Parts: sequence; structure tokens; C-alpha cells
Amino acid sequence: MRVLILGGTTEASQLAVKASTIEGIEVIVSLAGRTSQPAKIHVPTRIGGFSGTEGLVTYLRNNAIALLIDATHPFAAQISFNGAIAAKICGIPHLMLVRPPWQPIKGDRWIEVNDFKAAVAVLPGLAKRVFLAIGRQELAAFSYLEDIWFLMRTIEPPASDKPIPKGHLLLERGPFDLTEERQLLKKYQIEAIVSKNSGGEATIAKIIAARELGLPAVIIKRPIMPEGDRVTDVDSAFKWIIGN
Ligand SMILES: NC(=O)c1ccc[n+]([C@@H]2O[C@H](COP(=O)([O-])OP(=O)(O)OC[C@H]3O[C@@H](n4cnc5c(N)ncnc54)[C@H](OP(=O)(O)O)[C@@H]3O)[C@@H](O)[C@H]2O)c1
Repeated sequence: MRVLILGGTTEASQLAVKASTIEGIEVIVSLAGRTSQPAKIHVPTRIGGFSGTEGLVTYLRNNAIALLIDATHPFAAQISFNGAIAAKICGIPHLMLVRPPWQPIKGDRWIEVNDFKAAVAVLPGLAKRVFLAIGRQELAAFSYLEDIWFLMRTIEPPASDKPIPKGHLLLERGPFDLTEERQLLKKYQIEAIVSKNSGGEATIAKIIAARELGLPAVIIKRPIMPEGDRVTDVDSAFKWIIGN
């Protein structure tokens, strides 16, 4: 039985490796190709978009995929909708593996916003030096804020055809450690951070560091995701595969 895992997250890789150990199951991981050197796993992997829902349907049919698991990033809404629709069209079981969002605790100075535009709108007047920890795809939207200095961190350099906010760019891949995140915020005299509510352990340290330093955190809420079966951890997704 062939299983396609839409990946790009640590959980997707962990599930792929685990599910590959089940006798009779052949796992294929699909990556968008956002990073030129994705973390290596010893599971067959295909890279690049499918060309929309139609392309994904064709792929599922041509490769006789029996189960589809969407273990993509919580902000990768387009591929999640494509996956949900394509699975329905092909009549195959579909599961979403979505890590729980971070929750604020007492003392946090979260400003929750619906999207990146709202995050841009909230920054003037809030801070002059901002840690923009949102990856590289949406950086351009912040480049209009000329009175704010940004510390940006991405895995790979942002696209050269789009404007980049004024400030300093760090090229680094998580996970990030709390001690280092604390030092980073102090070193660059950061007054506020901006983050997607990605959830998970790998990138939570900046949220904790901001909490400790009493800094406001502009938290971008997750986009709407398709209805359907979902679990929040790798073990539950593994059990779902066995049950199917
Ligand atoms: N995608 C990731 O691996 C990933 C990882 C970390 C964070 N994020 C965050 O998610 C947000 C949106 O990212 P996004 O543009 O990648 O997602 P998206 O908006 O959901 O996807 C856009 C297109 O990329 C292709 N795609 C996405 N994931 C794919 C996968 N696993 N396999 C094959 N094709 C895939 C699909 O192209 P076709 O329509 O051509 O099939 C999809 O329509 C950003 O904030 C980004 O930082 C994404």
C-alpha cells in the first residue's frame, strides 16, 4: 500500500521514517522545494508543486496512492486545501497532522493578528527595533515600514526581486535554543518580535525569550484549514495508517 505524505515539517519526516517500518507500506514524501538543502531522510522523496488540485489528483492516480497524509506546515493552507479536495475526488482516506498552536500564558504580551498585513499595521508605535521571525516569503510586506529596524532570520536568502525591510538578515535553520534567543534579543536591542503561531518545540524559544524580557509579541494566527480528520501528533498519525 502506497502512502503519500505532504511534508516540509519535522513531524512529516518523523512519520515518514516510522511508517516506512510497517511491512507492506511504501511511503513517499512530497516537499514544496522551498529550501535547496532540505533535512535528509532515508525515505523516497519527490520535490516541487503538483500544479494545483488537478495535478495532485493526477499524481495520486498515476502513482496508485492509497492514503494521503497532510503533514505540512500549519501556514501552508493552499496545499492543505488541494490535498483535502484531491483525496475526496480520488476517494482515498485523508488525514491532517497538525501540531497544536502555542498558547499565551500569564505575563505574555501577545498581540494576536489575523494575517501578515495586520502585523504590519500594528508595528508603528509599538517598537523601533523588531525581530521579524516569519521566514522569508512574507518579508516584503514589512519593507514599507521605513522607520523600523528589523532583525530577520531565514533559512535561505529572500528572493532578490522583492524588497527587503531595512535591518539585518541572519541565515540560520532551527531548532533554536533559549539561551541563544535571549542573547539575540538583547544583543540587537529588540523591542518586539513578530512570529507566526507555528507551534512545536523547534522555534518556541523566541516566544519564551520575549516573555522573559517582557517584550510584546505580535503573533500571526493560523489560516483557515480544510475540514476533515486530523491528529496533532506523529504517534496518532502512525496508528491511523495502521488502522487503514
Ligand atoms: N511548504 C513548506 O514546506 C513550508 C515549510 C515551513 C513553513 N511554511 C510556511 O507556510 C506558508 C506558506 O508556504 P507555502 O507557499 O509553501 O505553502 P502553500 O501556500 O500551502 O503552497 C503553495 C504551493 O506550493 C506547493 N506546495 C506546498 N507544499 C507542498 C508539498 N508539501 N509538496 C508539493 N507541493 C507543495 C503547491 O504547489 P502546486 O499548487 O503547484 O501543487 C502549493 O499550491 C509560509 O508562511 C511558509 O513560511 C511552508
